[in-house]
Amino acid sequence: MKILDEIHVMGRSSLNGSVSIQGSKNAALPMMAASLMHKGLSVLRGCPRISDVFCMEEILKDLGAVTWWEGHDLYLDCTEADGIQIPAAYTGRMRSSVILLAPVLSRNHSCRIGYPGGCVIGKRPIDLHLMALRHLGAEIEEQEAYLSAYCGKFMGKEIVFPHSSVGATQQAVLAAVCACGETHVYGCAREPEVVWLCRYLETMGAKIQGVGTEHLYIQGVGELGPGKFQIPPDRIVAGTYLCAAAAARSRITLENVPVGELESFLEVYRKMGGQYEGKSGTLRINGERVCSPVPLVETGIYPGFPTDLQAPLMAVLAGIQGVSRIREKIFDDRFGSALQMRKMGAHIEITGNTAVICGTDTLKGCTTEAGDLRGGAALIIAALGAKGETCIRGTEFISRGYEHICEDLEALGCRIWQSSGKGNERI
Ligand code: EPZ
Repeated sequence: MKILDEIHVMGRSSLNGSVSIQGSKNAALPMMAASLMHKGLSVLRGCPRISDVFCMEEILKDLGAVTWWEGHDLYLDCTEADGIQIPAAYTGRMRSSVILLAPVLSRNHSCRIGYPGGCVIGKRPIDLHLMALRHLGAEIEEQEAYLSAYCGKFMGKEIVFPHSSVGATQQAVLAAVCACGETHVYGCAREPEVVWLCRYLETMGAKIQGVGTEHLYIQGVGELGPGKFQIPPDRIVAGTYLCAAAAARSRITLENVPVGELESFLEVYRKMGGQYEGKSGTLRINGERVCSPVPLVETGIYPGFPTDLQAPLMAVLAGIQGVSRIREKIFDDRFGSALQMRKMGAHIEITGNTAVICGTDTLKGCTTEAGDLRGGAALIIAALGAKGETCIRGTEFISRGYEHICEDLEALGCRIWQSSGKGNERI
């Protein structure tokens, strides 16, 4: 997939029309890892064609799986997936590959995996992942750049997480579903992506109770059968597009929206003056009356305000006159895109984990640099509300999670194009 280096946006064009929301990146990735646990063919329908999914696909093929696509349906034949090596080249590129530890140990009993790479949104340790795996019987040696793990058979136990972690909860579930005996996991994350993984595992024959709560009770089964699942729509992409409608003060329609997973975001959207109607499925959005700053938004664990929509929201608030505040309570360094928005004339002051935004209607397009996935999307949102042309470099970050954000915004009437960065030729 050729990724062009720059995205160009001509701001202040109003949007209209309708687009459909892609499948969820953060639901698809753990389901792909879980598919290793069946020694046969599984299928994930409506899978997003994004670089993180392609990276996970490459890792699975390295482990011996055979994969192919039919449109957006991803077929994973894991009959021969007996590999145990996950090179640092992959884990450095995509942190979430750490989720493969439990499936590979459960199936192949040992795993040598590169440390997940650093990240621009904070330290992102994996201590809770390792605690859960060790608790269920894995021996894990933490070497310089690699983790070497061994586990003859996971044994059901009680695991208590000191705080919520989506990935560590998924890791514990993946280790427990074929463990010997029963596992109780307390302090589980309740994000939809944990629920969807459990639902997928249930199609494979897993026995999980308490799905969607902080206490999961898992009865280990001997083996898992084929998985077959329709990937749910991506709540973060939907929220990003709602931010686009707000920044462009426009009316748009979104199809395939997981409204029930966006309650806390929609509450803030309403506070800004955003309007919408519709239930799960089609959402008619009206961003024309967005004009109110929001005194304080705090990110939190589900069902709180999603940390992944913090940067896109900041881009909207930067263009709303008045003082708004955002407090980031999940990651310790997730305001990177604010520095880029300042280049566009945004007034954003960061103190600790709080950003104070004095919104202005004088944002001006300029050349900016994406540093992470959601921060990159936020720069596109900021560009929609800015005067003139904005160039966003580092589009490889955005392609990790957004399958066709440029095509979608163009379909909604936005003047947006990509270039190779060697000039301004339109591609
Ligand atoms: C998942 O990351 C998502 N990624 C993230 O989305 C999302 O921001 C995050 O959950 C929170 O919702 C995927 O699903 C692939 P966590 P994850 O473990 O699982 C700390 C995106 O843009 N922690 O819930 O890594 C951690 O540092 C990405 O799509 C530990 O201390 O997040 C953080 O402060 C970005 N020890 C907090 O917990 C651990 O072992 C929550 O992180 C693990 C995490």
